[in-house]
Amino acid sequence: MTDSRRPKEPTQHIGNHKLDPSTLMMGYGFDPALSEGSLKPPIFLTSTFVFERAADGKRFFEGITGRRPGTGDGLVYSRFNNPNQEILEDRLRIWEDAEESLTFSSGMTAISTLLLTFVRPGDVVVHSGPLYAATETIINKILGQFGVKYVDFPAGATREEIDEVLDRAKALGPVKLIYLESPANPTNALVDVEAVVAARAAAFDGELPPIAIDNTFLGPLWARPLDQGADISVYSLTKYAGGHSDLVAGGLTGKKDLLDKVRMIRNTMGGIVDPNTAWMLLRSLETLELRMTRAGENAAQVCAFLKDHPKVETVGYLGFLEAGTRQADIYKRHCLGAGSTFSLYLNGGEREAFAFLDALRIAKLAVSLGGTETLASAPAAMTHLSVPDERKAALGISDNLVRISIGVEKAADLIADFDHALSMI
Ligand SMILES: Cc1ncc(COP(=O)(O)O)c(C=O)c1O
Repeated sequence: MTDSRRPKEPTQHIGNHKLDPSTLMMGYGFDPALSEGSLKPPIFLTSTFVFERAADGKRFFEGITGRRPGTGDGLVYSRFNNPNQEILEDRLRIWEDAEESLTFSSGMTAISTLLLTFVRPGDVVVHSGPLYAATETIINKILGQFGVKYVDFPAGATREEIDEVLDRAKALGPVKLIYLESPANPTNALVDVEAVVAARAAAFDGELPPIAIDNTFLGPLWARPLDQGADISVYSLTKYAGGHSDLVAGGLTGKKDLLDKVRMIRNTMGGIVDPNTAWMLLRSLETLELRMTRAGENAAQVCAFLKDHPKVETVGYLGFLEAGTRQADIYKRHCLGAGSTFSLYLNGGEREAFAFLDALRIAKLAVSLGGTETLASAPAAMTHLSVPDERKAALGISDNLVRISIGVEKAADLIADFDHALSMI
């Protein structure tokens, strides 16, 4: 919190001992003394905040309007800041040891605000592909209408391929943002962030274009791309961070000088997370490690069962990357776990995929991922329905593909559910 009535300085250490994020989620950034001793932060349902003195109002606005960089010293108006959102941002930052975090009304609001901060007509965005479909729409279609150009490269690209793409991008105009998504949805292909960082250093002098990376699928427990040199991690907090399929929100976490610029755009445009959603996310972050760990363990067991099933063609799960391949090498350098979202390719086509989905009893037939409950869907017929056929083929989005996000149920029950559904094909 940045109230003038400052809380106790939050600490991440006891002596020299650095506290783990999972511990800090219970109380970091909130002092009960400021809220009648309430153990949990109240939900601050207010649009505006009362200044003690006019001079305070002036000082706070200097922060909000950017006359002085940073968050500002005080609470002003809930489009700019709010105690629940500030505590949430303090805690989100901790997971990746980042300098700063910002939270938004959705993952797409976070991504749009990020793009609007860094690109102008004539500028070029370099991005890995595929991206979440709405992100591709913003870059290619919406920003394209404002004269923003883009060049993309496949998620698994090598250093040489990335060098070549950056050369092509520079020839088109000033490159202002490098935007990655790893693993890519639904191919699960990992981006070599270290190679992108090295290629950027070789390609540009002076001010480098920031590298932002959508870390929704593996973050913050199984991947920390800031450690590999990315500048900003992007999150749909709707997924694992929220974790209960009951809210929509987004976040950016990373370098303070870059996020200060994004905050200025958010202050003007709006799109900040609301107090109620921020409070729910605070609750969710308390169990983030427990939930993700359990979901990851479940996924490993379920995938081991599915792998050799006669009705299964193949399982696209990061835990099954073949040793010695480039993807396995990226995984070893970048990932701390295989996640709980994977692609199941059934023998057959749409008929078999639909029969399987319709027979599920525990797993729910729904898009999205990262919730406590297991979800399954058919991308070719649902999330990626509008993708042209040839692009679908290139991305492996075939009719026999079922996308699965494993939750925190008992693994044996999920295996029984999948076993039964496979028998109904
Ligand atoms: C990888 C990824 N990024 C971004 C988003 C968009 O997030 P939201 O739905 O919270 O706007 C999604 C949503 O599915 C996603 O899967």
